[in-house]
Amino acid sequence: MSAVGQPIPRLEGRLKVTGGAQYTADVPLTGALHGAIVHSPIANGRTISIDTAAAERAPGVLAVFTYRNMPRIKPIQKPWVHLHPYGQSYLVLQDDQIHYAGQPVALVVADRLDQAAYAGTLITIQYEVKPPVVFNTETARGAFDPPQFLWPVNSSVGNPAKGLTDGAVRIERVYTTADRHHNQMEPHATMSTWDASGHLTIFEACQGVFALRDFVSIALEIPPEKVTVISRYVGGGFGGKAYVWPHTLLAIVAARVIRRPVRIQLTRAQMYSMVGHQPATIQTITLAADKTGKLTDIRHDSISPTSVFDDYIEYAANASRSLWGASGGISTGHKILHTNRNTPTVMRAPHEALGHVATEIAMDELAYAVGVDPVALRLLNDTLVDPYTGRPFSTRAMRRCLTEGAQRFGWNARDPVPRSMRDGRYLIGQGVAGAIYTHWRWPSKARVVLRSDGSALVESGMQEIGCGTYTVMRQVAADALGLRADKVDVHLGDTRLPASHSAIGSTTMSNAGAGVLLAANAVRDKAIALALTGHDAPFGGATANDVLTVNGGLALGHQTITYSDLLARNRLKVLIGDGNYDPVEEAKGPTAIFSFSALFAEVHVDEELGLVRLSRFLGAYDAGRIINPRTARSQAIGGIIWGVGQALLEQSETDPAMGRFLHRNYSGYLVPTNADIPELEVIFAGEFDPEASPLGTKGMGELTAVAVAPAIVNAVYHATGKRIRDLPVTVEKLL
Ligand code: MOS
Repeated sequence: MSAVGQPIPRLEGRLKVTGGAQYTADVPLTGALHGAIVHSPIANGRTISIDTAAAERAPGVLAVFTYRNMPRIKPIQKPWVHLHPYGQSYLVLQDDQIHYAGQPVALVVADRLDQAAYAGTLITIQYEVKPPVVFNTETARGAFDPPQFLWPVNSSVGNPAKGLTDGAVRIERVYTTADRHHNQMEPHATMSTWDASGHLTIFEACQGVFALRDFVSIALEIPPEKVTVISRYVGGGFGGKAYVWPHTLLAIVAARVIRRPVRIQLTRAQMYSMVGHQPATIQTITLAADKTGKLTDIRHDSISPTSVFDDYIEYAANASRSLWGASGGISTGHKILHTNRNTPTVMRAPHEALGHVATEIAMDELAYAVGVDPVALRLLNDTLVDPYTGRPFSTRAMRRCLTEGAQRFGWNARDPVPRSMRDGRYLIGQGVAGAIYTHWRWPSKARVVLRSDGSALVESGMQEIGCGTYTVMRQVAADALGLRADKVDVHLGDTRLPASHSAIGSTTMSNAGAGVLLAANAVRDKAIALALTGHDAPFGGATANDVLTVNGGLALGHQTITYSDLLARNRLKVLIGDGNYDPVEEAKGPTAIFSFSALFAEVHVDEELGLVRLSRFLGAYDAGRIINPRTARSQAIGGIIWGVGQALLEQSETDPAMGRFLHRNYSGYLVPTNADIPELEVIFAGEFDPEASPLGTKGMGELTAVAVAPAIVNAVYHATGKRIRDLPVTVEKLL
């Protein structure tokens, strides 16, 4: 009757498909006003004059905010640090300076949304315009070494110089990836309401209710207890909702000034400038190897753009730090360039998914250079010790991922010669890539309430961002207590619940899940204590270790007692267990913890039209123990589709003169849809990893988005003999 390991359907699935799940913008809030944001069309300069008189007189308008009347906000600490709750340090409507196109210059608040939006069009603004700095291969020459905010910016292990000279074969290449946006189905939405006592409640589409609460507490200097954040359902996060962005701050402050609830919902177009994006990268990589393909040296450098006011680093070169071994050495470095754009942010999968484009296409180029099969090349360079820290990996099933994946995919039937496989007018290509993904150990609290009817309630300030979090938490608690999964309710997404980390970094299962496990174990232990020594104790005189959980209660040998009976005997309505998972940081542990995958892509290329069609894809994953194969498979499918976008479609182009992102809707910014995606095959090759989590799980969600693109690009090379080093692989690059 174990729930863990079962592919049980989503707890909230029915609610979602029937429209019963309330997303932030669905939450009814009596008397809520609507905010409309007016944006700067220029990317660099300042406002000379702002005339709001006509907007203020427009029907339904209650207030117009500009930098002149916006309350001053406490400056946010710099530099941008990891887990900093605000997406960018630049605060909204505080001065006349313009740093990026789409920067808010005014907020109109009105009774109705149409009134606010109309009044916004009546505001006239004069600008002093300066030329914007944009990111391209020319300007990238001015990139500089940024201060560290997450991992060390540069790294060097071993003896890279020797490794380079030892190599008989050398691959030196430049790979580039495009700016991309998150494009969640649910646009960002926020609603703020202050009560008479000064308590602020925020309904927010976000990945971290506690992160938002912390931000408000810092920026507005109010105690965290005076802030409640609620986020029950989120229609896609992907990192875009991991941090707090200016619209949220605008709604909070406007609601405080006007003393009415204020709602701001971003339009699809606003989603391209009001919140962060994944920055483009220019990556230079050198692989040196002996004649057999054994790596002697890896050198990987990446340049990415950031805003003028923040030093966000896309740690792309991290991909090469721990993926493969190199006998000589491995060195990496990152540089950034200040440009006129808003601050980039994490996007599934930040850092790794970009870096693997360079590492894993270069590995394919090396395989062809030395004449070794690309799967065999990776097996040859597999390592059980993390080259970066020298620690052994806690678990690393890369070998299994590669071999089992290759077998299931039918890799052996592949003719390695480019352009050798055909199906009518289509060239067929098959490519492989391996992947490594960071694992974080973070603290998380949870509470489990056993109720007198024999059911249980899980409470955690984690949130569901579409991954199946409600469902997996239910499974964990059900098994710890010996309950059927449907006997467990789950409450998430509310700062009145026990504090958890944000739903970021693929950490939810392993960390928030561990908190739930500890809480469920605590309540089970309390129940056992009652059965041994409580009122009318059924197992009096026995020892706790001999008591087991059975369906809906406890057992000692053949004797059983239900939880409801046990609570009734002790006149208890509930039994409460608290979980406080407080692990040692991964970096300080004895082993290096990462998740892994091997990915196999097959494409059909129409050479005359330059069109690439994915025809098959298989992912083999080591994410430790799998709690729910159905939700895990859904994660993998989502990650593969996400990677298909990176490989073939997605790019936010910048107007070089105006410095604006050009594509501001789903017709200009292309993402894969059903017709782009064939049958996807997913296999799990990992094992229980006790170092990663008490649940034995490792990070999964973002792992699945890593190295999909290089597997596809490598397949395109195999099909066509053309090596594309600039993503996405669009028609014009293939023709
Ligand atoms: Mo993920 S980009 O850490 O939400």
